[in-house]
Amino acid sequence: MAAPGPPPPFLAEVRAALGPHRVVTDPARTASHAVDWTGRFRASPPVVVRPATVDDVVAVVVAAGAHGVALVPQGGNTGLVGGATPLDGEVVVDLRPLHEVRDVDELGGQLTAGAGAPIAAVQEAARRAGWAYGVDWAARDTATVGGSVGTDAGGLRFVRHGSTRRQLLGVEAVLGTGEVISHLARVEKDNTGYDLGGLLCGSEGTLGVVTAARLRLVPPRPDAAVALVGFASVAAAVDAAWAVRRGIGGLEAVELMTAAGLELVCTVRSWPAPLPTPAPAVLLVEVASAADPGSVLAEAVAGLDGVVDAAVATDGPRRAGLWRYREAHTDAIATLGAPHKFDVTLPATELAGFVVDAPGIVAAVAPRARTWCFGHAADGNVHVNVTGLAADDEVVAEAVLGAVAERGGSISAEHGIGRAKRRWVHLARTPAELAAMRAVKGALDPHGICNPGVLLP
Ligand code: MLT
Ligand code: ZN
Repeated sequence: MAAPGPPPPFLAEVRAALGPHRVVTDPARTASHAVDWTGRFRASPPVVVRPATVDDVVAVVVAAGAHGVALVPQGGNTGLVGGATPLDGEVVVDLRPLHEVRDVDELGGQLTAGAGAPIAAVQEAARRAGWAYGVDWAARDTATVGGSVGTDAGGLRFVRHGSTRRQLLGVEAVLGTGEVISHLARVEKDNTGYDLGGLLCGSEGTLGVVTAARLRLVPPRPDAAVALVGFASVAAAVDAAWAVRRGIGGLEAVELMTAAGLELVCTVRSWPAPLPTPAPAVLLVEVASAADPGSVLAEAVAGLDGVVDAAVATDGPRRAGLWRYREAHTDAIATLGAPHKFDVTLPATELAGFVVDAPGIVAAVAPRARTWCFGHAADGNVHVNVTGLAADDEVVAEAVLGAVAERGGSISAEHGIGRAKRRWVHLARTPAELAAMRAVKGALDPHGICNPGVLLP
């Protein structure tokens, strides 16, 4: 049965404040907001509000508080854990109209981006100012700053620049109380008490609606080289990732792929195999340095154990040609049906064993499912994707997340908890931590209207 929609007085108040065209109730126009990117989480078409200003967001939050209407903030809807899907009849707050990138500080390397700005727009604004933005991933054209802040997104260059939280100098947000907090100052160093931006980062919309972020930029990358390196075993590739992290200066990315994932990508895209010699596991390594990064990288690869083949690219098009094998994984896996995504981190000593064991851990409880592992090896972060499961299957999550916790890992590295992992958040947080989180939520979202279906059990 479809969840009941918001009460008419709520709609009337929001229409009066935003204008009627900014409250969309036609299912034909809102259906795309009801399904997450994977297709695993599906709701009935929701009511969607499209605020154009911070005042609009305040009006929505105040009306929601008064009428007990739950809100789900949504940007590009590229999330992978059902964190922005209105499964319980929530009203979707579409933040894409707040997409302005402004107040670029060319001297200090900062800018302010509206929550609805795509990551690619931030990267482009940074480039035009002579800087770069440190966070990047394949969905860059669609994924937005608000979602990146909400999930503390990591991405392909975490090993170099860290996650979104490290780029964040402050946020503007409408708390669940309806109050606006705004800390978009142009200073870099600022330790005046609680880091509210850091608190909202990774809070998955449970404390308020982030409307803008002040972002730190990074110096533009010097010349880069990319290597694809095939290894005799998955364990050898993972071990090499740690050796590379310690041994190579100017490291930009270290990405793990397996033979199965690469074969799927090549089949789906009709691409040739990336390396002539078959290898159970392949690392993509990118290095940037002012002096001859190709030689730096080739020399480093020559010193690694277990290498069976390698290709090094220094010019832009060939580098992009190697990267596409990694970036195509998410789409290729999705062609097999809605995947279950387990984005997990392991301690360095446990990563190789876990990646080797993961297919068996899944097969033991779901023999017909298929397991695909890839990810950010030098961050200890592997994306265990499982296809061939029913949307509501929880047996595999129990097995995979339990195995991660047993090995001292975290059940979420960069995608967030959302709805997909809410049942297992106790594996990552102690009762005291969860109580502290609930206390914070109670203070900032006293009506319980801010994305109540995610994160906290
Ligand atoms: C990636 O690293 O490609 C993303 O986190 C997406 C995914 O896990 O599918
Ligand atoms: Zn990732």
